[in-house]
Amino acid sequence: MERLSSNNQVTISELIHRGTLALAGVSPSARLDSEVLLGHLLGFTKTQLLTRGDAECSQEVIAHFSAFVERRQRGEPVAYITGEREFWGLSFQVSPAVLVPRPESELIVEEALAFVGSARSIRCVDLGVGSGCLSIALAVELQKQRCDVRCIGVDISHEALRVAAANAQRHGVDGRISYHHGEWLDGVKDRKGPFDLIIANPPYIDPTEEVPLDLSFEPREALFAEEQGLKDVRVIIESAASMLRPGGLLLVEVGAGKRRALPQLLAPFESQYEISLVGDDSSADRFTVVRLVRR
Ligand SMILES: C[S@@+](CC[C@H](N)C(=O)[O-])C[C@H]1O[C@@H](n2cnc3c(N)ncnc32)[C@H](O)[C@@H]1O
Repeated sequence: MERLSSNNQVTISELIHRGTLALAGVSPSARLDSEVLLGHLLGFTKTQLLTRGDAECSQEVIAHFSAFVERRQRGEPVAYITGEREFWGLSFQVSPAVLVPRPESELIVEEALAFVGSARSIRCVDLGVGSGCLSIALAVELQKQRCDVRCIGVDISHEALRVAAANAQRHGVDGRISYHHGEWLDGVKDRKGPFDLIIANPPYIDPTEEVPLDLSFEPREALFAEEQGLKDVRVIIESAASMLRPGGLLLVEVGAGKRRALPQLLAPFESQYEISLVGDDSSADRFTVVRLVRR
């Protein structure tokens, strides 16, 4: 971003504009990024940024904002710069140890809530918790409807488990979710099953795929999987059958462009589950959630 001398008078609107110009070639959401970064520094909502657009910014704010914009110009995701990301209308702490929650993953929460319906109690497992966003959003909703939800969150990353536990506390569901280190369902094998619901958003990018710069800041173990990206999906589907009650549900997110590969992957499991796909079923095939009901 263009350096500003100390006697420049710069308003909020002007600073957002300069940030937008500086990020235009780097980010597809340059203006939004600029607003989020400045809003975070000032502690302002988007509306406050608009209504106070004529207010002058201090030299300290300008210097911090410039440093943030430079980090974003190098490709760092906005969420790692601010340490926050919104998911399901809730603010989650994020660090470079966890995947930045994606809006499309809210589909897992929607499907899980539809499955739970008006049940009075539910036992679930969240595999690969990362920031904890999926099971925390679910627990927050179920707690509101007075469902006695109990969840186990598993991750291979100790640091991710720490972030998830902090987020559970932030949203008042730390008494409902316990966190365990482990490899997929091995992480819960000494817990008493069977479970009603298992949710998972495993890594699903083919390691040979070319990926955008932003992803190079996210943990490799959260993104890439062997077998054209489908190894972890397969392992989870294989091991979940013995952990679910009959009628219990497994929801697994898989990535863009995978629908053509799924019939072959899923065929061996048809005797154990009733299987359907939800998500973007247009030719763009941007994301899919595999829905497997234990027979
Ligand atoms: C795509 S991220 C999903 C994070 C979070 N659930 C979300 O939806 O934003 C996948 C997560 O799986 C974890 N993971 C990767 N391999 C694992 C394994 N073998 N066992 C358990 N967790 C694993 C990663 O550390 C990462 O946190």
